[in-house]
Amino acid sequence: MTRSRLILLTGCLATATLVAATVVPSATARVRTQDDKPFVNASSQVAAGEYLMTVASCHDCHTAGWVEKKGNVPKADQLSGNPIGYYGAWGTVYGKNLRQVADRHTEDEWVDIMKTADHGQGNLPMPWHDAAKFSDKDLRALYQYAKSLGPKPVRLPRNGKPGVKPTGQYIDLTVKDSTSK
Ligand code: HEC
Repeated sequence: MTRSRLILLTGCLATATLVAATVVPSATARVRTQDDKPFVNASSQVAAGEYLMTVASCHDCHTAGWVEKKGNVPKADQLSGNPIGYYGAWGTVYGKNLRQVADRHTEDEWVDIMKTADHGQGNLPMPWHDAAKFSDKDLRALYQYAKSLGPKPVRLPRNGKPGVKPTGQYIDLTVKDSTSK
């Protein structure tokens, strides 16, 4: 190897070490990277989120009247929660007010909630098993749309314990067997 090539190589190595030192996170620092999953390509993250909220059926459970009105709910009323309970083996839960969730949490926290089934606390029928598979970019778009609507503090009934029938309106999601007596 010629002397000049050797110098060049040493220079590159030094640069590589420097770059590595600046980008490799320490064991404790959490650095979020974009995964390589597919994502929606729209004019803005808010527009992507608006589209995803609809096609991923989020409104069905998180916007009151969405199913009954075939999706014709003005933005002013969207995603502020659904007071009709979902009763199942898990007890009774309600499609949460996502505008308040977006108001209370950062975008990174929202991504964590969606990927970890609300840190293991989330119940069905929220499709956590599917939600965990969104690309980071789409999860961030969903957050941005909920956030863009602004807070709307509509209160929902409290979750109910397993085996206790709720008092208000609810959908029964318990498994029944027509062959058993
Ligand atoms: C089949 C109904 C259903 C669908 C569809 C659904 N959700 Fe949910 N979601 C729920 C219910 C019910 C809860 C509350 C679960 C609980 O209390 O344990 C919930 C909880 C959540 C939470 C956690 C809120 C919190 O901090 O407590 C987020 C975030 C969320 N949903 C976002 C979404 C998004 C985004 C979509 C669409 C991709 C979606 N959900 C689709 C029913 C649904």
